[in-house]
Amino acid sequence: MFIDAGALSPEATYRLMSGIVVPRPIAWITSLSERGVINLAPFSCFTFVSNKPPLLGVNVGRKAGRRKDTGANIHALKEFVVNIGDASQMVAIHESSAEHAPDVSETELLGLRTLPCNTVRVPRLADAPVSMECRLERVVEFGDTGAEFIVGEVMMFHFREGLVHDGKVDTKALNPVCRIGGPNYATLGEIVTLRGMQQTPKSVMNGDDATR
Ligand SMILES: Cc1cc2nc3c(=O)[nH]c(=O)nc-3n(C[C@H](O)[C@H](O)[C@H](O)COP(=O)(O)O)c2cc1C
Repeated sequence: MFIDAGALSPEATYRLMSGIVVPRPIAWITSLSERGVINLAPFSCFTFVSNKPPLLGVNVGRKAGRRKDTGANIHALKEFVVNIGDASQMVAIHESSAEHAPDVSETELLGLRTLPCNTVRVPRLADAPVSMECRLERVVEFGDTGAEFIVGEVMMFHFREGLVHDGKVDTKALNPVCRIGGPNYATLGEIVTLRGMQQTPKSVMNGDDATR
């Protein structure tokens, strides 16, 4: 079968694409309102976009045309924290997506402990296995619904003790949660290790090289 993409409503397109681009990791974002309220929400339209500097990207939509609290807070403070939850936190991750007024803190509501960060004013989740302190790098608007692709530069990584060996994250110990479609989640299945592929090392591009 085929479906003409141009004939689909935004909701129908979302239903299809969120079933195709799977599994998606979840950025569990803490942000701070201008009144000092800590906001928490999950975002699975999430990836990394550069490694030098380390840049993360997350697509934050709107509710009836208005910025979500996360988007509004990031625009105002230009800082946020991307936390990565583990499977034991799946219910809290899901519950934190409930809509609340901007003066309601999801971390308080869910009883999640926070800790101050080193380089940003936004607190991080104390019990998340990974947190990344981010400064807003840029916002790119896409499409007709006002969705914003928000890119942040990671200033500081935090890892739960014992999670990193030789500069690599122990994925099994991380035990991440991923989102499928709707209220459906998955955890890590079998890990299959194939032979390592030789890759040309990355280099930092400058001057003439940048045009190639
Ligand atoms: C697992 C999960 C992933 C989500 N991913 C996104 C996303 O990528 N972009 C988005 O705009 N909303 C996403 N949502 C919905 C937001 O979490 C939801 O709109 C939330 O109320 C926003 O909170 P805020 O207004 O406090 O920022 C997701 C929800 C869940 C449960």
